[in-house]
Amino acid sequence: MTNARIFINPESGSIKIIGAVDFVDREGNILETKENVKFCGCGLSKDKPNCDGSHRDKAAKKD
Ligand code: FES
Repeated sequence: MTNARIFINPESGSIKIIGAVDFVDREGNILETKENVKFCGCGLSKDKPNCDGSHRDKAAKKD
């Protein structure tokens, strides 16, 4: 077993987890296991909690 690694992009706010992640319910029962997930940390995704790339629009508006 390897530990999952996490990368939080300080510019976009996206949160990328590299490796296997168990999604659990309130009691800790595993509902599903996914590999290499990316969550939205900017608040703009239309597919929350997943990052859908909408943070790029925010970056483009800064220019
Ligand atoms: S971080 Fe990518 S859409 Fe929010």
